[in-house]
Formats: sequence, structure tokens, C-alpha cells
Amino acid sequence: MARPENETQAVSVRDALQRLHQEITSCHACNLRNGARLPVPGSKIAEIPDLPRVPLLIVGEAPGREEDIQGAPFVGWAGKFLRNVLRRTYLTDLTYITNLVKCRPPENRDPEPQEIIACSPHLDRQIEIARPHIILALGRFSAGYIWEKFLHEKENRPFPGITRVNGQVFPLERNDERLYVSFFFHLAYVLRQARKGNEALPKRFRNHFYGLRIMLEDYGYPMRPKRYR
Ligand code: URA
Repeated sequence: MARPENETQAVSVRDALQRLHQEITSCHACNLRNGARLPVPGSKIAEIPDLPRVPLLIVGEAPGREEDIQGAPFVGWAGKFLRNVLRRTYLTDLTYITNLVKCRPPENRDPEPQEIIACSPHLDRQIEIARPHIILALGRFSAGYIWEKFLHEKENRPFPGITRVNGQVFPLERNDERLYVSFFFHLAYVLRQARKGNEALPKRFRNHFYGLRIMLEDYGYPMRPKRYR
């Protein structure tokens, strides 16, 4: 199987993201850092795809209790579900995970607009470095941010709300390259629905990832990739 596009280039994004993680760790641009135990810049270094770019970038909302303790995104109960889906769709090694807001809001409250404004330059830089083929925003805050950044102008409308865009994929051209932007509900909502007996939503969530996996094949990533590291 041919190596995926650009994979033969020597430069990995991992080192650049690692340096950025260190900067994020010492950020005090908003008050959230004071109440958080550990900032959560993004995937643990060993889990960042060791490739010249990131095939799939997942943007959650903010760290929760377990993330705050471990300093890593999606390591709590919702994270277990997400990681299981990534494994089953062979996306684990092709995915970099971060959040819109890097420090845990007290009591898991919604992030405030000024906190998003203070923190989002970190996400902007992560996107610049990672140069993802696909961005998947989970939850209304990250979806709103990603929509405004990439789709407001192209779609000629402000963020229509997570319910309208849930499960959709939007192709766009950026820096002469194709970028896919996609959205899904916050995982806590998906799992709450499952607990209420609505199994359709977690199933749609899993199917969404199968769809993203197939899209990555167009870039040359094999269906069952060997481990790249
Ligand atoms: N864990 C995270 O790190 N982010 C979320 O949005 C949800 C759970």
C-alpha cells in the first residue's frame, strides 16, 4: 500500500504540537487556569499521530473532572466511549484530540464567551500546525467556534445550531486544499440519550466515524492502517 500523501516528508507535527502544549500549560489568559488542577492542551504526546499532518482533528468542548486530574482530553466516561469508537474504526492512530477550552470550567459549567475568546488562539495554532484533513467538532460550543471560523462566510449564515448540523460534513477549500468540517452532539448528551434507552444516537455517532474513516481513504490512508509508530 502506498504511503499516505506527504507521509514521506521528514517533518512530523508531533514535535511542534508538543512545544505548543508546553506553552498552553503555562497560559493564564483567563481565570479558568486558577481553578483547574491541570490544563489539558491535547492528546498525550505519544498519542499524537506521528505523521506530517493530522488526518482527523477532534475538538471537544472543555476538560471534565477526569481530564482535569490526568491532564489529557477524553479520558473520563465519555472518553472511554470515544476511544472505543476510534479503535473500532481504525482511527486511533490517525486522530489528534483537543478541546475548545483547555482548562476545566468550575463544576463543568459552560465556557463563558470571554474564556473562549482567550483560549481559542491555542486551537487556531493547533489547527495551523496539524493541518487536518477533517475537523470534527463535538458539542455546540466547539461547533459554533469551528462554524464561525470556517463556514460562516462560505455558507453565508451564522451558526445554525448544533441540531441542524449534527452528523453533517461540509467540504471546503482552504489554502488550496480540501478540508472537511463535521459536527456532532456533545458526547455527554449522546450517552445520556443511550442511558434513557435511545440507542439510535450512539449508533449514529459510531456510523459517523465509519464515514469519516472512509473519507480518509481518499487521502491514501489504508482501511486497516498498520501502526505508524
Ligand atoms: N472530555 C473532554 O475532554 N472534552 C469534552 O468535551 C468532553 C469530555
